[in-house]
Amino acid sequence: MRYTNEKNRGRCACRVELFMEKLIVRPSGPLYGRVGISGSKNAALPILAAVLLCESPCIIGNLPAIRDVELALSILAGMGAQVERIDRATYRIDPTHAAPPGAPDPLSGRMRASAYYLGAGLGRFGRGCVGRIGGCDFGGRPIDQHLKAFLALGGSMEVSEEAITVQAAALRGAMIEFDTVSVGATVNAILAATRAEGETVLKNAASEPHIADLVAFLNRCGADIRGAGTSTLHIRGVKHLRGCSYAVIPDMIEAGTYLLAAAATQGAVTVCGADPHHLVPLISKLREMGAEIDCEERRISLFAAKRLRGASVITGPYPGFPTDLQPQMAALFCAAEGRGLVEERVWRQRFRYAIELQKMGAAITVRENTAYVRGTCLHGAEISVPDLRAGAALLIAACAAEGESTLSDTSYIERGYEDIIGKLRAIGADISAG
Ligand code: EPZ
Repeated sequence: MRYTNEKNRGRCACRVELFMEKLIVRPSGPLYGRVGISGSKNAALPILAAVLLCESPCIIGNLPAIRDVELALSILAGMGAQVERIDRATYRIDPTHAAPPGAPDPLSGRMRASAYYLGAGLGRFGRGCVGRIGGCDFGGRPIDQHLKAFLALGGSMEVSEEAITVQAAALRGAMIEFDTVSVGATVNAILAATRAEGETVLKNAASEPHIADLVAFLNRCGADIRGAGTSTLHIRGVKHLRGCSYAVIPDMIEAGTYLLAAAATQGAVTVCGADPHHLVPLISKLREMGAEIDCEERRISLFAAKRLRGASVITGPYPGFPTDLQPQMAALFCAAEGRGLVEERVWRQRFRYAIELQKMGAAITVRENTAYVRGTCLHGAEISVPDLRAGAALLIAACAAEGESTLSDTSYIERGYEDIIGKLRAIGADISAG
């Protein structure tokens, strides 16, 4: 069995281009042009886990070519799903003969979204098991709300240093009110409740577009879930789910990152394929700072004629300002005029990039969960990437700086951005392998 699974794993060929560990970034001048936006990482990962709930093949399109998606496909293959690449962004996944892992997959330690195989395993097999859950380090990343949901649905769990195992003889619908808004706990509760007996109500649930996308996928497979995009979800459990064809939504964080890169370099960029409705707080903040922004159905254009003015942002769950764009916004504040402030209310310690920006001459100080910035001229420096979005922020700062920067540990960035170097180069960035 294990041999078969390993064989499957081999079939889901790695298609992420090799990423350089070190990058040299020289001043680019204004970034200018169009960028095509890939599928959303944070929608693709729960949808891939949800495929496990189905009993026939799914075709999932618009998957971003990023490391975390590769890991998810490998985890599915390791559980016995047949994973077949149709084209660059589309995979056929047949979970019909998948089985729960006897021991935790060592790959689960490499990304946060491995946790979704607990809810999906519980929903499909009555058992889920993962190893230590990885992901970016923002201080603590608890999973008590995930476990609270499993317990309410009738699961029992065992948590050790090496593994988390959840199981249930039968899952029963329940009323679950989360103590805090959590994307991951909402995803896991949806995954487990979709095939439970009876109705589940989730209160204080996350309402991010990627949650709505997961629900849209599951409903197309035959699930009965209402309330997506709001803080209350009603899930009527169903006995079976059939596979379907589905395309993942565009990545709002990727789109926001290129808008911020153009803003920091006083450039003009159009992000194509992005949904402006997902980025309302970013767009209004950039307008307040002096950028001209034009939105159409599936594209957003930004023009920054001069250095933008600093501003304040406070992160929060959707529809608040996304925490996954605050490091990039802080990099813009560093290159802007006047004072900027970032108050982080989701990951209170998400400021490991600040010390790297200081090496580039940034006037940024962090006290508790707030970064205070005074805009200045950045200069090149040797910096290292502490996590995914911090990496994007440091690339933005390096493009906007005077002089050459060397970024190390850049492989973090490939976890979440499809071909970021190629896309930045296409709009004028001067980036080469170190
Ligand atoms: C998801 O992480 C995203 N990851 C993160 O994106 C994103 O920053 C985060 O949601 C918030 O939007 C994926 O979608 C794969 P949470 P997740 O549970 O689910 C607290 C990126 O850069 N909390 O919504 O792990 C927690 O401490 C990544 O793309 C509990 O207290 O985040 C945090 O303060 C990084 N108990 C807050 O809730 C729990 O059981 C939000 O966390 C769970 C969370």
